[in-house]
Amino acid sequence: MQAINASIPFDKRLWRHDIAGSIAHARMLGETGILPASDVEAIVGGLADIAADYEANGVPEDPALEDIHMAIEAHLAERIGPTAGRLHTARSRNDQVATSFRLWVRDAIDGHGAAIVALVQVLLDRAEAEAGTILPGFTHLQVAQPVTLGHHLLAWAEMLVRDLSRFEDARDRMNRCPLGSAALAGTPFPIDREMTAALLGFDGPTANSLDSVSDRDFAIDYLCAAAQCALHLSRMAEEIVLWASQPFGFVMLPDQWSTGSSIMPQKKNPDAAELVRGHSGRILGLMTGLMVTMKGLPLAYSKDMQDDKEPVFEAHDLLELSLAAMAGMMAEIGFVPERMRAAAASGFSTATDLADWLVVHGGLPFREAHHLTGRAVRLAEARGIGLADLSDEDFVALDPRLAGARAAPLSVEASVASRTSVGGTAPGRVREAVGELRGLLAGDTQ
Ligand code: ARG
Repeated sequence: MQAINASIPFDKRLWRHDIAGSIAHARMLGETGILPASDVEAIVGGLADIAADYEANGVPEDPALEDIHMAIEAHLAERIGPTAGRLHTARSRNDQVATSFRLWVRDAIDGHGAAIVALVQVLLDRAEAEAGTILPGFTHLQVAQPVTLGHHLLAWAEMLVRDLSRFEDARDRMNRCPLGSAALAGTPFPIDREMTAALLGFDGPTANSLDSVSDRDFAIDYLCAAAQCALHLSRMAEEIVLWASQPFGFVMLPDQWSTGSSIMPQKKNPDAAELVRGHSGRILGLMTGLMVTMKGLPLAYSKDMQDDKEPVFEAHDLLELSLAAMAGMMAEIGFVPERMRAAAASGFSTATDLADWLVVHGGLPFREAHHLTGRAVRLAEARGIGLADLSDEDFVALDPRLAGARAAPLSVEASVASRTSVGGTAPGRVREAVGELRGLLAGDTQ
């Protein structure tokens, strides 16, 4: 029974939050006259001593004490005697654990927020420096149109900024205090739930006591946001893996972010990126796991819910590592602009530019321009040259309406420079977007 029942091996991570919750509860019991001030001072002093002790020596793990909440109460009794037993007046472990865990998840969200901001800042710095660097843009992993490397890095930044807002959204929704819901039905003591909520930095108390002790939406919201963020990191990681492979050769991995092979001396493997990609699968699984744990549970608390903590802790640790690794890797990764440019110029990537030019300067319907461009591509392909290498005579011989087509933005540089629409890849737009994202982050971190 002890082996299956005890949660102290993992929930000891909640100790700071449990002590904060208990101090707030004790102070409220004093203010409302439920406990005399002398008891409150003894309890608060004892809890502060326990915190100092845990900080210095770690949390002792006695499985007989079941969980961190019972362990702290037992340690308090060792320090202050039977007065410790008064702390549990007007509360239950059910509202206690719900409160401690919410406080922990709230801190986790704040930590991820800072880590995401740090990663986005790295991406913005690198994007600004590479605002004019040519990179092939892909669809179907086929070279489609040239873009700028800065633009691509900003696409990643956009994903992460949405992740930030998802975490903030989860934080806003969860920031209500379940303490005072007691076991499931509330309490006859004249408690002040507004006070404990305020002392713990919550926006106010939760409403329904049954819901309060059985709600784990905040943990699932957290895991959903974490899974989405991990999913984004895995897409970035996948591109780093591709870009670092020899056929691409777009990036040079810094030595400290790659590993060698035990047998092939020439190998430099993108392990950090691969692990970020791999961790995302685990984080998604943890989200699914907690959803399945909660599915079908009747009101109110059931012990199944003790299984809410490990998936959250594990997802947190994996995501925190992934964000840090990504920031470290992206700060130091070396770009190889010649390889990117050569790939961007391959595959007639400026064909759309020619078609667009024929619409604007030749007055042709787009479909017809598309058709004529296709013929120009076939001619260049047959000769093994690029569109920009076709002469005026070549164009006119194909169709007189192609006269002057060499003025179209057929080079990759001219192509990206022409894409000045809002959200487009033109270097000027990229620099502008960097500025906007910097402003957004500055507002966010205030
Ligand atoms: N260790 C438990 C948990 O994490 C604490 C709540 C126990 N409550 C109860 N009624 N047995 O969920």
